[in-house]
Amino acid sequence: MRLAAEGADVALVDISDSDVTAAEVAASGSRTLAIRADVSSETDVQSAVEQALSAFGRIDILVNNAAMTAPPRPFDQIGPAEWRRMMDVNTLGPYMLSRATVPPMRTLKRGRIINIVSATFHQGVPFLLHYVSSKGAMIGFTRALARELGNDNITVNAIAPGFTLTERIARQTERVEAFRRDNMRALSIKRDEVPEDIAGAASFLASDDSSFITGQTIIIDGGWAMI
Ligand SMILES: NC(=O)c1ccc[n+]([C@@H]2O[C@H](COP(=O)([O-])OP(=O)(O)OC[C@H]3O[C@@H](n4cnc5c(N)ncnc54)[C@H](O)[C@@H]3O)[C@@H](O)[C@H]2O)c1
Repeated sequence: MRLAAEGADVALVDISDSDVTAAEVAASGSRTLAIRADVSSETDVQSAVEQALSAFGRIDILVNNAAMTAPPRPFDQIGPAEWRRMMDVNTLGPYMLSRATVPPMRTLKRGRIINIVSATFHQGVPFLLHYVSSKGAMIGFTRALARELGNDNITVNAIAPGFTLTERIARQTERVEAFRRDNMRALSIKRDEVPEDIAGAASFLASDDSSFITGQTIIIDGGWAMI
């Protein structure tokens, strides 16, 4: 919604129906397109990128935001099938989306890839081993791809949010209370994190103001992890 408010046309790619969000984004006056796709499917990704290109004619910015998470539990209860699915969605998906969107960015001689990772990587949060590992992998991805694409004037950066009260999390009231009780004291700024805390960094990384910044991860967690 922030990027739309600043003039971007937005293609929303999600495995579930994002029509409501698309309507909300459209209210900002920008053109929007809701595309249902599984980011871990090569054919879905190819089709999603083709739909976005045919609707808007160009792709300047890719935000790798879609991801799965899992209920917290000890690492030995995860199992290989769930581990593979986590990696497919959270790392293979961004890889395939990057591979499909870099050619149109190269045509423009400018591009922005923004990977939404997680401060759980920096904080070493337990009981989410496959999720934390997938987000750590995306920080390595961000650095290495930044080096490959620098000469194309395409930047690759990451944003690592802390525990954020998105709609999904806010509904889990027991989890929110547990975070406030057990973890809030670790934050420098002791309040709930909300999606608006993240939007400004995404806007900055998508803008010309960040044109000489690449391979970086901005941690937005109220000053818990500091590197
Ligand atoms: N909310 C938090 O506390 C928090 C903290 C750190 C990082 N993050 C990251 O921020 C991003 C957004 O998280 P959120 O809290 O809004 O979660 P969310 O579950 O509300 O949003 C994730 C979206 O990804 C979609 N998705 C899941 N699997 C998909 C697939 N295979 N193909 C396409 N779409 C798929 C879901 O349908 C959902 O709409 C994620 O990358 C998440 O890991 C969230």
